[in-house]
Amino acid sequence: MTFLHSDSENIRSRENLPVTIHHGAREASVLIAKEIATLIKKKKELNDHCVLGLPTGSTPVEVYDELVRMHKEDGLSFENVVTFNLDEYYPMQPYKLQSYVRFMREHLLDQVDLKPENIHIPDGTIPVEEVPGFCRNYEEKVKSYGGIDLQLLGIGRTGHIGFNEPGSGKKSRTRLISLDHITIADSASDFFGEENVPKRAITMGIGNILESKQIILMAWGEGKAKI
Ligand code: PGA
Repeated sequence: MTFLHSDSENIRSRENLPVTIHHGAREASVLIAKEIATLIKKKKELNDHCVLGLPTGSTPVEVYDELVRMHKEDGLSFENVVTFNLDEYYPMQPYKLQSYVRFMREHLLDQVDLKPENIHIPDGTIPVEEVPGFCRNYEEKVKSYGGIDLQLLGIGRTGHIGFNEPGSGKKSRTRLISLDHITIADSASDFFGEENVPKRAITMGIGNILESKQIILMAWGEGKAKI
């Protein structure tokens, strides 16, 4: 975050939610990765799954880097981890450069010992008439694991979490959504031009996100200060 550290007490006292201000994204990401690792190990001791809700984008990259480092250097195992990603562009093929399936594989999934059957990412390849059924099924799977233990979030310039653009209801569920023009503009460079950005996405709803047992929302840098 961009606030001066000396402002942090003042900012904290005005917040209802616990807010932690760090000197930089790296420092914060390492602490968040440690918190995730602690939860994974605690759940393992209980012989239980650790269900993580995961975002994409530039914000979580250093958290994933640190988790991968912990796996490779410190022996952190993801064998008991189950993941549910927040969203995917629609339509989208998983092998495409901009696909969130590809993003997750490169940054985390292919680099740790997660079981393939424990990985869930919204499917951008299904016919549109199958999307509502897919979304209900996605939610049922989350429920079957007892809900999300820890939901990690970034936040877009529109204030979206997942792809829940402004106007999304507090009780909204997993669904197809039209992307805001600011989100499309922000994605343009990844797609080599705004005209190539999909106009829609599948996203978990605000209602789903709020059902998580714990949420960590990360926002780094001046670009996010206002929102
Ligand atoms: P960013 O995107 O992490 O790339 O800034 C966040 C978001 O749009 O949710």
